[in-house]
Amino acid sequence: MAWTDPFGRQIDYVRLSVTDKCNIRCFYCMPERHNSFITPSHYLTFDEIERVVAAFSDLGVSRIRLTGGEPLVRKGLPDLISRLSAVPGIQDLSMSTNAMLLGKLADTVFKAGVSRLNVSLDTLKASRFSEISRGGKLDDVLTGLASAKQAGFEPIKINMLVMKGINDDEVVDLASFCIANGFALRFIETMPMGASGQEAYGHYLDLSVIRDRLSERFDLVPSVMAGGGPARYFRVNGTETNIGFITPLSQHFCATCNRVRMSADGTLHLCLGNSHNMALRPHLRDGISDSGLRDLLIEALALKPWQHNFEDRPDHVTRSMATTGG
Ligand code: 5AD
Ligand code: SF4
Repeated sequence: MAWTDPFGRQIDYVRLSVTDKCNIRCFYCMPERHNSFITPSHYLTFDEIERVVAAFSDLGVSRIRLTGGEPLVRKGLPDLISRLSAVPGIQDLSMSTNAMLLGKLADTVFKAGVSRLNVSLDTLKASRFSEISRGGKLDDVLTGLASAKQAGFEPIKINMLVMKGINDDEVVDLASFCIANGFALRFIETMPMGASGQEAYGHYLDLSVIRDRLSERFDLVPSVMAGGGPARYFRVNGTETNIGFITPLSQHFCATCNRVRMSADGTLHLCLGNSHNMALRPHLRDGISDSGLRDLLIEALALKPWQHNFEDRPDHVTRSMATTGG
C-alpha cells in the first residue's frame, strides 16, 4: 500500500521526534529560557509510538529517523529502538543527535538497532561551541563521536549549519576533520523556523558560496549517497568522503519530498516549513481501531502542502525546530 499525497508524492520516510527537550540550547533552535515544552502527560507512550509506527508501515513507510530535541534524553530510548526495529516493514532506523550522550550510550543504541547516525556539529572550536550551544562542551561531542565510530555506526554524517559571521570560516576545517575520521559532511542553510530560527536567519548564507570556497581547496566530484535525502553530494577526489549541500532556501527540493514528521506529543506535521498538522493523540487515547488509524493517516496526508514559503514569508512558521528535530 502506498501513502501518497495530493501531488503524487509517496511518503516512505517519517521523522519521529521522541522529545522536544535538549541537553544544550543552540541559539538558532531554542530560546535560552524556552518555557513551552510539551506537557509530560502529552508524550506518546512507547506503546502508542509503536502502534503509530506499525500503522505507518502498513501504509508503506519503511524508514524511520529518531529526532528530538535531543532523542537520547528520552528515558528508556534503547527500549523504544528495539521495539521499533522489530516492527515488520521498518527496514531502516536512524537517529539525529548532538552526540553528547553517545560516550555513554553508543554501544547500547547500536545494539538496539540504530545503524546510521546524523550528528549536529557546527564548529570545532571549544569556546565557539559553548557560545552557539549556550554552555555545551565540545569534548562531549568529540568523545561521543569516537564512541559512535567504535560501536560501528555507518555512515556517520556530520550536519553543519553554516551561518555568516558565526562559523562560515570553518567549512574547510570541518571538511578536513570529516576526511580524517571517515565521516560524511553536510552543510545546511539556516531556516527561519520559530523565533530562534528567525533570529539566526540574519546569518543566512547561500551554500553556493561555500561550495565555491571548498572547490578552491578540494577537487569535488558529483556523487550520490544512498539514503542521502535532499542533499546534493560531491565526493572529495582521492578520498571516500562525501560532502552534501542541503539548500532548503536557495534551491528547494519540495517536488521530491518523501517525508512527514511526528512530534513527541503525537502531532503529525505534514511539512517542515508550514503549520499544516493533525493531532493523533486524542484519537489514540480514544480507542481508535487499527483501520481507523490508517484512515486518519490517509486523511492527514491530504493536508500536505506543495512547498514551504520561507522565501515569501520567512516568519510564518512559529513552531520551533526542537518540536520536530529538523
Ligand atoms: N535552520 C536550519 N537547521 C536547523 N537546525 C536546527 N535549527 C535550525 C535552523 N533554524 C538543525 C540542527 C540539526 C538538525 C536536526 O536541524 O543543526 O543538525
Ligand atoms: Fe517537504 Fe515541506 Fe520540507 Fe518542502 S519544506 S521539502 S514540502 S517538508
